[in-house]
Amino acid sequence: MAQELISINRLIAMEGRRYPKATGEFSALMSEIVLTAKIISREVNKAGLIDITGFTGDVNVQGEEVRKLDEYANDLFLHILKYSGHVCAMASEEAEELIQGPTYTNSGKYVVLLDPLDGSSNIDANVSIGSIFAIYRRISPSGESGTLEDFLQPGRNLVAAGYVIYGSSTMMVYSSGQGVHGFTFDSSVGTFALSHPNIKLPDKCGIYSVNESYWTKWTDGVRKYVERCKGIGEEGLEKPMSARYIGSMVADFHRNLLYGGIFLYPGTVGKPQGKLRLMYEANPMAFILENAGGAASNGLIDVLDITPTELHQRTPLFMGNKEEVALIENYIKQYDLQEELVG
Ligand code: AHG
Ligand code: MN
Ligand code: MN
Repeated sequence: MAQELISINRLIAMEGRRYPKATGEFSALMSEIVLTAKIISREVNKAGLIDITGFTGDVNVQGEEVRKLDEYANDLFLHILKYSGHVCAMASEEAEELIQGPTYTNSGKYVVLLDPLDGSSNIDANVSIGSIFAIYRRISPSGESGTLEDFLQPGRNLVAAGYVIYGSSTMMVYSSGQGVHGFTFDSSVGTFALSHPNIKLPDKCGIYSVNESYWTKWTDGVRKYVERCKGIGEEGLEKPMSARYIGSMVADFHRNLLYGGIFLYPGTVGKPQGKLRLMYEANPMAFILENAGGAASNGLIDVLDITPTELHQRTPLFMGNKEEVALIENYIKQYDLQEELVG
């Protein structure tokens, strides 16, 4: 007897049934995100065939060059969600200001934050890339446009978060606080099918993922921790961890989630908040990780406890097994007197 196929839409509907007051609006919003993911997956798969790769020459609000597929993914997400009626406003890593929908969307219950294409420097090398989304319930009154305060909520308030990884297969990993579930896209039927139910981070942390070229710009605490991972010095692990770093956070995260590992993007001299964005990258991944039994910290506190003050704010990020994250926090406390590097 073949195993039962549970589509992502069915699982979300099943989760919704636990809430007697659920209106189906969240399920409908997720369906729009799933649709967008399918279209982006199709475009990613043919990116090498048509003239969609390569720089456009434009620069995004973060001061980085934008590639065409980024633009495509951004435009598609915003277009589909904007008119869905379920969100009253959106924010994207690629857009400076929040985006409001037409007036009929003022009754939308949710706001969505997006990193439409993560790992964009890897597009032309056929390396895995991803999309990240985060969903909050709005704070502003229904019937009005969404406002900035709807977005500036700590990650703890997230209703759901997830990512799509366009890799050897396309997968969506998603959590609404009821476990973390992975779905693999079956293009023959056009469905994300539940393939990784209730993902739990393995206890063993055998991988560390960090761009070590910033070594000289790190604080002592971060250096000491990475030395430990490599088995250097008195505190060095007897059996060093393996180093794995692709440069697509979604891909590095996904591997570490399945195999057990720690991902670091610390602050550096000159860039004390590091590179990754709190709202589009750190929070959704932290939410998933906590739901899978892991932890995410900025070096001082849980990422999900940070109250954002601006849409595009960045944060140092340490995420993976709980014990390792606690250890990094200890190293930072012990060695880093220059608090501005992690603050
Ligand atoms: P994006 O493509 O959305 O701008 O994100 C790229 C990020 C992240 O995916 C990755 O972990 C990191 O940049 C790599 O940065 P470094 O090259 O500095 O290591
Ligand atoms: Mn990104
Ligand atoms: Mn991006």
